[in-house]
Amino acid sequence: MHEFYSKTSEYFSLEIPKYVFTPNLWTEMFLEGIDKIDVKNKDILELGVGTGVMAIHLLRKNIRSYCGVDINPKILPIASRNILCNTQLRSWSLLCSNLLDELPLKKSFDLICGCLPQIAQIDIINTDSEDITGKYYNPSQYQSEFNIYGLGLHDKALVQSRTRLRDKGSVLFILSGRYGLDILIKLFKKQKYTFHVLLEKISPHSKKISLESFVKAEDDGNEIFFYTDVTCKNRVSAKTAEQNRICNNSIYYKLYVIQGTPE
Ligand SMILES: C[S@@+](CC[C@H](N)C(=O)[O-])C[C@H]1O[C@@H](n2cnc3c(N)ncnc32)[C@H](O)[C@@H]1O
Repeated sequence: MHEFYSKTSEYFSLEIPKYVFTPNLWTEMFLEGIDKIDVKNKDILELGVGTGVMAIHLLRKNIRSYCGVDINPKILPIASRNILCNTQLRSWSLLCSNLLDELPLKKSFDLICGCLPQIAQIDIINTDSEDITGKYYNPSQYQSEFNIYGLGLHDKALVQSRTRLRDKGSVLFILSGRYGLDILIKLFKKQKYTFHVLLEKISPHSKKISLESFVKAEDDGNEIFFYTDVTCKNRVSAKTAEQNRICNNSIYYKLYVIQGTPE
């Protein structure tokens, strides 16, 4: 069992096998973002349950019900055990589904949230592999012009969510600003959602993860936003960011929690 304390000192006791996403800074900010909105008595759907940490956090907040989906069937028993171990409440359900595809037709929600992978390269899910981090979906199946920014999954999620949101319902996603805030605004605008930044933070980029796909995207004429300082004042090209990473220097980018409401 792993012990996980969120920034608010909330305690979670979690089973986290290798093939399940380990809660990290994104998760922390996702939890903090949810705390910015009123979830009391709300029916909530989460896209991408992972360890179930958001489920536990929400169930401790007097929501009416929680439904969580994940594309990886191996994750659901883990999430289920983690939820049972951290809360007595029973107003939750889990479902194996690619986004909202398998959700019963009659289900609707006040809030649909997600900390979904934002990965530009094609990397098809292989649930037999021990380490499936990042190998979640084939972005080309969505044929979205936002695939280049790793946002094809979110593009589809916005389309599907609109059909399941109640009046005054909204979506809440945590998104990286590595391609700039304007791209995120463009995505929400395309799908006719209002765009509201609930939280903005600065995250260090993992030194283990290559920035080659960003270098390529930059060479193809896209704007990329990396910084060499923790205040994000000194912006550098993706190429320079990658050289810094290789030399073991720190690189930073911005993270956003965005709320969107269908117009
Ligand atoms: C970055 S993890 C986040 C997990 C957890 N919510 C957290 O914050 O720690 C993303 C999760 O989304 C799931 N996922 C990826 N693509 C998905 C899809 N198309 N439909 C549903 N879940 C998906 C992954 O299996 C993974 O568990």
